Amino acid sequence: MTPRTLHTLAVAVLALAASAACRTGPASQPGDPMLDAIRAKERGGDLTYRESQGQHLFLRYCATCHGDEGRGDGQNASNLEPPPPDLTGPKSPQDVTYLTSVITQGSAAVGRSPLSPPWGRSLTHQQIEYLVVYCQSLGRKKPA
Ligand code: HEC
Repeated sequence: MTPRTLHTLAVAVLALAASAACRTGPASQPGDPMLDAIRAKERGGDLTYRESQGQHLFLRYCATCHGDEGRGDGQNASNLEPPPPDLTGPKSPQDVTYLTSVITQGSAAVGRSPLSPPWGRSLTHQQIEYLVVYCQSLGRKKPA
């Protein structure tokens, strides 16, 4: 064995040892209060992972009409008749089938005006599911 091969071998062994150490490292243990706090902050407070994914999408695609917090006060709301409803509070729609239809096919599909656009061709099923759970979570907020 040449010194060069030995060197390569040593590097390989070290790399293996390092990756094994990473897998068992304590940093990824669940239940660490500090980590939990950081994750909760990233998720936007009391939102689950799926809800917070929905929040990102909502801010990008829906907030212009529905408002950043879903209270029906987006910058475009005053141009709309009927206006976007307040999605917070106990009257917030919770039914998965209803929400999925409104978001996928637009509000016309549930017998309302065509003002809430259909997203079924531009967003994935996964993204629409995230939006549905985020809309449901708005029901936990106090209404405007
Ligand atoms: C162009 C403005 C606009 C955009 C963008 C928009 N909406 Fe709407 N949305 C409305 C309006 C206006 C209504 C009320 C329609 C009606 O009552 O006829 C509505 C209604 C709804 C409703 C029904 C609420 C209820 O009480 O039944 C839901 C749910 C909804 N939108 C979700 C969304 C989501 C999620 C998005 C983003 C993916 C979105 N909307 C994007 C304007 C918009």
